[in-house]
Amino acid sequence: MNKASITDYKYLEGTKVLLRDDLNVPVNKNGVITDDKKIIEAIPTIKFLIEKGAKVIIVSHLGRPKGKPMPEFSLSPVVEKLKELLDKPVLFETELFSEHMQKMIRTMKNGDVMVLENIRFYPEEEANDEEFSKKLARIADIYCNDAFGTAHRAHASTAGITKYIPSYCGLLMAKEVEVFSELMNDPKRPFVVVLGGAKVSDKIKLISNLIDKVDGIIIGGAMAYTFLVAQGHNMGASKVDEAKVEYAKLLLEKASNKKVKIYLPIDHLVAKEFSFLADYDVCSSENFPADGIGMDIGPKTIRLFTKVIKSAKTVYWNGPMGVFEYKRFSKGTRAVARAMAENPNQMVVGGGDSAAAVRNFGLEKDFYFVSTGGGASLALLEGSELPGIVNLKEKE
Ligand code: 3PG
Repeated sequence: MNKASITDYKYLEGTKVLLRDDLNVPVNKNGVITDDKKIIEAIPTIKFLIEKGAKVIIVSHLGRPKGKPMPEFSLSPVVEKLKELLDKPVLFETELFSEHMQKMIRTMKNGDVMVLENIRFYPEEEANDEEFSKKLARIADIYCNDAFGTAHRAHASTAGITKYIPSYCGLLMAKEVEVFSELMNDPKRPFVVVLGGAKVSDKIKLISNLIDKVDGIIIGGAMAYTFLVAQGHNMGASKVDEAKVEYAKLLLEKASNKKVKIYLPIDHLVAKEFSFLADYDVCSSENFPADGIGMDIGPKTIRLFTKVIKSAKTVYWNGPMGVFEYKRFSKGTRAVARAMAENPNQMVVGGGDSAAAVRNFGLEKDFYFVSTGGGASLALLEGSELPGIVNLKEKE
């Protein structure tokens, strides 16, 4: 990447660094973090800054509290986890811009770490408010963005702030961007993309852009039902994005003109109710019952998708193949994860559900790269510029 890295900045000792991390981890009702991947991935940059004697002031969001303080979205459990992983005290400031915060910062010693409470407790953050961005910039001497997972959001702490303070990228950000540049500019072929999840609308622009770049696209999850309807199949009571059926037809046509193969499920696990205990039948796309709900891809589809994934040299995957949170409908998602884990080439998983699934299946170590960015990696693959990256300082 042609952006200046925090490692290029020579004078970190005693420098106040406002570090934007994406510490948006799932926290359950009891305040327990159920997946700490994003915190673990944030550690190398934090440690680097500590070792260089910087004063590290971390900003992050957690969840979507919509501009209001909400205790369930507090970063407090994250602070505890950071203490454990860094094996040192971590200061926690709950009142942004307060006298107390100023005093805490004044008394920070070199190598100290402080976390500011969830930046999305302030409506100005998501509004990318200019005054708020300026005030954030005044907290520190330099800014470092390591929040790849949030880099597709033009918010005050990811984009606005970069106008007012020298801005560098962190180690995680650099690594993520490097992997996705490799994928888009120089993939080993065949290059196959596996897409799943519920909403076609989230991934339509992506599919259209990918048709120009990849050799094949596998579509599973509820998204596939919209494409199957576009092909003339009846998907019973499955989730179909009716408004997108016509567009799905156009995409299928575009892919066929460009000789890019689109792989859709040929059979399905079909239930009569949306429940983790639901009984199911295996039905082909041609014989889908009128009252049936597609819950997962079927065994023939698993064999087809596995074969395509295993013969590819580069695979990017984003989105589950079925209702994988229900064990009996997780086989399709598990099969995709396993096929990728067994392929020694460039296997990359976007963040979100599919990355969590890979970790739950214990397969993360067998992957080339598991990204911390779901939406951000999709935006990069769509060919969009990410607001959290474009305005960082250029490399000299
Ligand atoms: C994510 O989890 O995708 C990022 O932290 C961004 O969160 P958001 O979708 O709420 O902006």
